[in-house]
Amino acid sequence: MEFKIALLAGDGIGPEIMREAVKVLHRVGDAYGHKFCFCQAPVGAAAIDACGDPYPDSTHGVCISSDAVLFGAIGDPRFDNDPSAKVRPEQGLLRMRRSLGLFANIRPLTLFPALADRSPLRRERVEGVDLVFVRELTGGIYFGEPRGRSEDGSRAFDSCVYTRVEVERVVRMAFDMAMARQRHLTVVDKANVLATSRLWREVAKDMASEYQDVALDFMFVDNAAMQLIQRPSFFDVVVTENMFGDILTDEASVISGSLGLLPSASIGGDVALFEPIHGSYPQAAGRNVANPMAMILSAAMMLDHLGLREEAAKVRSAVSAAIEGGIVTEDLAGNGCAHTTSQVGDFIASAIEK
Ligand code: IPM
Ligand code: MG
Repeated sequence: MEFKIALLAGDGIGPEIMREAVKVLHRVGDAYGHKFCFCQAPVGAAAIDACGDPYPDSTHGVCISSDAVLFGAIGDPRFDNDPSAKVRPEQGLLRMRRSLGLFANIRPLTLFPALADRSPLRRERVEGVDLVFVRELTGGIYFGEPRGRSEDGSRAFDSCVYTRVEVERVVRMAFDMAMARQRHLTVVDKANVLATSRLWREVAKDMASEYQDVALDFMFVDNAAMQLIQRPSFFDVVVTENMFGDILTDEASVISGSLGLLPSASIGGDVALFEPIHGSYPQAAGRNVANPMAMILSAAMMLDHLGLREEAAKVRSAVSAAIEGGIVTEDLAGNGCAHTTSQVGDFIASAIEK
């Protein structure tokens, strides 16, 4: 089959990890007789430098005319250190999510057995962890109005806003996902304080009768942050609002041994987007040391989404083989045993055979 894939490498390590994902996809194409037509487009700081806009219309055009979007990373210290910057790379990512209608971000967390001892948690706590976050992605405090500064600059405000429709569509997705997994859904909120969280609870409770086979529970976000460390295997599907999901998924990611392992899929619109959950890691940019696995596993999620399940499984087992064989970058390697980004990509690509 033939697929058109938009490549938005973005900033920092984005281009070098993207190169490895493309290498792997080419190999999948050769092995299984598919053709991936790649179309690169600028986003983030790279796009600001090129044309002053972190998500140019031309990039949006490439995305909506593709079968899927692969996205690298966004962010640049030049902007992080300048609170007065009017245009910021992250605005590109947020505008992209919003304009592509990507209201749900799926972040699965599984443990590669070979890495159980690299987790900051004890082996017996992390063994068997298999959970998935469904993070709401186009609402809440990230987008709510009004937001800004008072005229004299002495006050700043952001608004957390959710509508019933916004909550219902993402909670439904989470219920459906739970049905296909262990049938356990945890709604994470702060309903003891926030009106938006009480709306989330109300909506989830209203829907529960449609999903009687799913065990539904509610957890305050501060407690959830603790439970993720104390008994991560309690969770199956976790659904939560945008900001809580951002924070909890970074926390959860290190349970797997490295932030450099976790992929994600952003879905809900006409075209889906696949991206690692880590950031642009500017300290490593251009050094060929960053872990490309989260990017490659994001490409595997994309293959699943395109209906290429066998191919996706093959990519995942090639990543496992790399981990088991110690073909890993410095974040996962013991002293002196680190491989480069491109060596890891080469190994994974070469492990793919039909
Ligand atoms: C993420 C990132 C983004 C977010 C940033 C880069 C805007 O942290 O995808 O988790 O906060 O959503
Ligand atoms: Mg984040």
